[in-house]
Amino acid sequence: MQTLSGLDALRSALAAFKSGDNLAERTIALVPTMGALHEGHLTLVREAKRRARHVVVSIFVNPRQFAPHEDLETYPRRLEADAALLAAEGVDVLWAPTAEEVYPAGYATSIQVAGLDMVLCGAARPGHFDGVATVVCKLFNQIQPDVALFGEKDWQQLAIIRRMARDLDLTHPHANAILGVPTVRDADGLAMSSRNQYLTPAERVQAAALNRAMRGAAARIVAGEPAAGVLADLTAEVLAAGFRSVDYADLRDAATLEDLAVHDGRAARLLVAAHIGKARLLDNVAVGGA
Ligand code: PAJ
Repeated sequence: MQTLSGLDALRSALAAFKSGDNLAERTIALVPTMGALHEGHLTLVREAKRRARHVVVSIFVNPRQFAPHEDLETYPRRLEADAALLAAEGVDVLWAPTAEEVYPAGYATSIQVAGLDMVLCGAARPGHFDGVATVVCKLFNQIQPDVALFGEKDWQQLAIIRRMARDLDLTHPHANAILGVPTVRDADGLAMSSRNQYLTPAERVQAAALNRAMRGAAARIVAGEPAAGVLADLTAEVLAAGFRSVDYADLRDAATLEDLAVHDGRAARLLVAAHIGKARLLDNVAVGGA
C-alpha cells in the first residue's frame, strides 16, 4: 500500500492504475473517511475491493465540516494504526493529504446542496454539509473513481452526495457509481461510529436503547400508526434510557428527505440524532423495506 499526502504523487499512482491492459484492470473505487477506522469503515473497504481492481481510501479530518465549537481538535487521529488496518485489507492507496494540500491559502470555493442541507443534522450544524459536499467533490475530482462507497449510517450525507453527484455530473459513465452500504452495528444494535469512544462504559450500555427504540417505532409506523405519536413515544423511551436530549426523531422520504406524517408506501427512513454523555449519536432505519 502506498500512503500519499501530495497531489502529484497521487496523480502518478492513479495514472499507473489507469494504464491497465483492459477496462476491468483500470477500475478504481474510492472510500472517503476521516480515519479512526472501525468495522463499519472496513466493510466499505471490503465492498470496494469487490467492485474495483484498485481501492483508494482517503483519511482526512475535514476542518470545513466542523463548526468552531465542535470536536475538530479532539476528533480521534491514529493514522499509523489505520494504515496498518488498510494495508491488511489490500488497499492500494491511502490518500492522507494535509489541510494545506486540500485547502491552500486563498481557497474560496464551497458546494451547497440547497434544501437537503437545512433539515435534520443541517438544522443543528449549519454549514456542516457544505463542508462535506465540498470535500467529497474535491475527492471525486482528485481520484475520478469508477465507484465511491458511503455508509447508510449517515443517511442524510448519502442523500446529499447522491444529489450533488447527479447535479454536477460527477459520476458518469456509470449510473451506480455511488454505492450506499448498510450500517454495521455492534451486537446490541448500536451503529458503529468513531465517536462511540466518547462514551463511558455505562453510557455505552445505555446507548443500545436508541436502535432498539427505533426498530420498535419503525414497526408501528409500517403498521399504519401516524408518525407523530410514535415519534413522541420513541423520544420518551430514549430519554428514559439515559440519553440527555433528542435533536430530532423524524420520518422522512428516503431520497428527498421530505417530512412524512404517515408511511404512505414510498421508500422512507426513520432518522434520529440524540445526545448521550459527550457524544451525539446518529441512527436511521428503513421503514417498509426502503
Ligand atoms: P467518517 O465518519 O469517517 O465515515 C466514513 C464513511 O464510513 C462514511 O461513508 C460513513 O457513512 C461510513 N460509516 C461510518 N460508520 C459506519 C457504520 N457503522 N456502518 C457503515 N458505514 C459506516 O462520513 C465521513 O467520515 C465524512 O463526512 C466524509 C464523507 C469522509 C467527508 O469528510
